[in-house]
This record gives sequence, structure tokens and C-alpha cells, in this order.
Amino acid sequence: MRMSVIGCGYLGAVHAACMTELGHDVIGVDVDAAKIGALSVGEAPFYEPGLPELLTRALATGRLRFTTDIAEVSDYQVHFVCVGTPQRKGEYAADLRYVDAAVEALVPQLRGTADAPALVVGKSTVPVGTAARLAALVEELTPVGEHAILAWNPEFLREGFAVKDTLHPDRLVYGLPPGIAATTAETMLDEVYATPLAAPTPKVATDYATAELVKVAANSFLATKISFINAMAEVCELVGADVTQLADALGHDARIGRRFLGAGLGFGGGCLPKDIRAFMARAGELGADQALTFLREVDAINMRRRTRMVELTREELGGSLMGARIAVLGAAFKPDSDDIRDSPALNVAAQIGLQGGYVTVTDPEALDNARRLWPDLRFAATAEEAAENADVVLLLTEWAQYRELDPVKFGEVVRHKRILDGRNALDPATWRAAGWQYRALGRPRV
Ligand code: UDX
Repeated sequence: MRMSVIGCGYLGAVHAACMTELGHDVIGVDVDAAKIGALSVGEAPFYEPGLPELLTRALATGRLRFTTDIAEVSDYQVHFVCVGTPQRKGEYAADLRYVDAAVEALVPQLRGTADAPALVVGKSTVPVGTAARLAALVEELTPVGEHAILAWNPEFLREGFAVKDTLHPDRLVYGLPPGIAATTAETMLDEVYATPLAAPTPKVATDYATAELVKVAANSFLATKISFINAMAEVCELVGADVTQLADALGHDARIGRRFLGAGLGFGGGCLPKDIRAFMARAGELGADQALTFLREVDAINMRRRTRMVELTREELGGSLMGARIAVLGAAFKPDSDDIRDSPALNVAAQIGLQGGYVTVTDPEALDNARRLWPDLRFAATAEEAAENADVVLLLTEWAQYRELDPVKFGEVVRHKRILDGRNALDPATWRAAGWQYRALGRPRV
């Protein structure tokens, strides 16, 4: 199929390359000329394992190209809207201006006919009710009347696994319009996703509102699961229990499962925090705020972990951060990503810096982004450099290279062998055996 992808960020760039891999003819559009320039020569504008190789392969087929000119999409049939919906400044609600702008720019270009209708497919995470509003906008702006259809097809990809999640999704969700257009849209989407559907991948074909809700409900559930175990960690800390063993034991219950019970510094990134806040804001508008008050607690537990990490650091340093040398391993919101949006690691590093600590941050991929946003912090290229003469080391993003540090060799660079494991990623026994004072969130001090 011939398809356009509007918005070439984490979601759109991956989607465009993956759709080419599935055999389609794809044009990616973005207003950012630098991004389009990089993508056109096979460079990913952000770190995502496997994406540069996939882009190179896709470009070589001649079936993938990128442009800043929206008018070039008119002879394409399916149009994916993949722009961001960030949190509005000073509010919980999502900022829909990019989605609205994308649809307003796209729709006048549509050239659908009775035989070959144009299908606009929203993939961005939006407040429930947005698709219905945009469907009315499509109807108003389209030059082709009923031959332009809107569907909503939420995306569940995780950064770091984006290529795999797009080529081999857990499920496909179609939010379809009412009436006869639903069949047309479903048939077209089935053709888009013919390869994963044959795998087989489960498919849920539903209405707009349910499809929009699937995405925010999934992210709310995941955030709740993380905050649940982090709440247990708070209790564990008071009674000398071990939250990692608690999570293992809970996880053996197949109804609960061990995934997303990783206690530690909590969730960050461009999705979970803003999605639960936007969901609360939307529920308020709908008069259903009581139904989601628990998400306020989920958010609060999550933010408390960051403060707790700062307090733990102060405790380990004997009551004051002033003048202490603190090494922070990790700046990205999670490993295998250079994304620092709402990064718990950088939040802790900045708080400690503001309270007088001499902080040096390292990360394998996210340093450039971190430097831009936090010019006042110090940065080092490697864990060893960051930890030189450190009074305490904080492991805040569990990159494989930090998990695999040799505590004996690493112990030679620091001033005091103190490590705070903010992600429960290290083996306490090994580190203690190498002479380190090891502490973690939700685990007993020995
Ligand atoms: C998330 C959803 O998983 C994905 O389905 C959706 O499409 C977008 O949002 P992502 O933001 O890439 O994906 O990251 P994810 O792997 O879900 O991790 C989110 C945060 O939770 C990270 O900061 C991570 O460190 C933290 N986390 C995750 C925990 O603290 N404990 C866990 O057990 C798992």
C-alpha cells in the first residue's frame, strides 16, 4: 500500500521504516528539516537499537522517502498521524495542537475516490473523544466528501524495543467510524497489517472511544503496577523487608506476574507520566474524576521515590550533601534510550546539585540531550570518569554496562566505596563482598 506518516519522532520514524519493511511504499513527513535531512540519509535522529540498520535497508528498497512538504502526500492512500501530544505547561491536560495542525494540513491534500478512499489513521495518544472531534474536522475540510475516512489505531511501542514492538505487536487495536465506513477502514487496515495479522496477532476492532481508552488504560495499569510495588518498597524500608524478594514471590502468581514489578526510582519518559495526568484531566472534564483519583496517588508515590533517593544519598553522606562528590550513573529515563523526558535520574541529579552536591552524570547515549537541558550539571563520558574520587555512586538508569561493572576494579576509582542502587539492578552480595557499602530502595540495610 502507499502510505504517508505525518510526524517523524520516536513513533513516526520507527513506523515509517517498519511499514517499508512490511512491503509498503512510504513517505514520512515532518516540519523539522534537520530531522528529515537525517532520516533521508538513514540516520536516526535519536537512539533506538536496530533503527539505523532498518532505515538503511528501507531506503535502499526505494520504497521509503522523507519530505517536509505535506502536499507530496496527496497521491498516497493511507495516512498515519504520529505527532506528539505532550503535557500542557502548567496543566495536566494533553496539548493537542500538533495533532490538530497535522490533520488540518493533511486533509485538504486527500484525493480519495469511491474505488480508492483515503484513510487517515491516528496513532498519537489522545484524550478520549478526540477521534470523534477530528472525524468531524475531516468531514469539514476534505475535498473528497465521504471518500475520506478516519480511524484510530493506538500504538503500544516501548522505546528501546520500538522496532520489534512495531513489527511484532502484542495486539492491533482499530477504532473504527460508525456505519459502512467501518468495513472499508477495517479492510484497509487489515491490508496494512497483513504480515503481523498472519503471525497471528490478536486484533480488536472497536469504536473510536474504546480504542482511545485502550491506550491510556494500558499505560495507567502499567504505571499503577510500578507504583504499587514502590509503595510496598516504602513499607519494606520501614520493617527491614526486601522488596525484590517480595516482587519475586508475588510474580509467581500468574494472575499478578513479575513484569513491571521492578521497584526502584519509578517511571519517567514521554508516555507514562503525561498519559496518566492527561487521563485524569480528561476524566475531570467528563465528570468522572472520582473514577481516577487513584492515579493521583500513583503519581505521588512515583514522585516520592525521587525525593527518597535524594534523602537516602544525604543519609549515606552523614546528613549533608554540601560539597560531597556524587557520581550519577544514567541520565536517560530508562536503558537503551537517549530520551530524557521526565527522567527520574536527571531529576534526582538536579535536586542533589541544587542542594549543594557536586554531581557528575554519565550515560552511554543521553549525554548530549542531558547537557542541553541541564547545562549546570557536570557530565563525564564513562562510569569510571564520573566516579573518580566520588564519595557516593548512584545507579539511576540500569544500562547493561552499569549492571556489569566489576565492583573490585570500579572500587579503585572512588574515594568512598558507597553505592546506592536506585534500580535494584546490582547483586548486593557481590558488591558488599568487594567492600562496598550497598544500599537500595526497598531493601534492608545490613
Ligand atoms: C511505555 C509503555 O510501556 C508502552 O506500551 C507505551 O506505548 C509507551 O509508554 P516506555 O515509556 O518506552 O513505554 O517505557 P517502559 O518500558 O514502559 O518504562 C516506563 C518507565 O517505567 C521507565 O522509566 C522504567 O524505568 C520504569 N519501570 C518499568 C519501572 O520503574 N519498573 C518496572 O518494573 C518497569
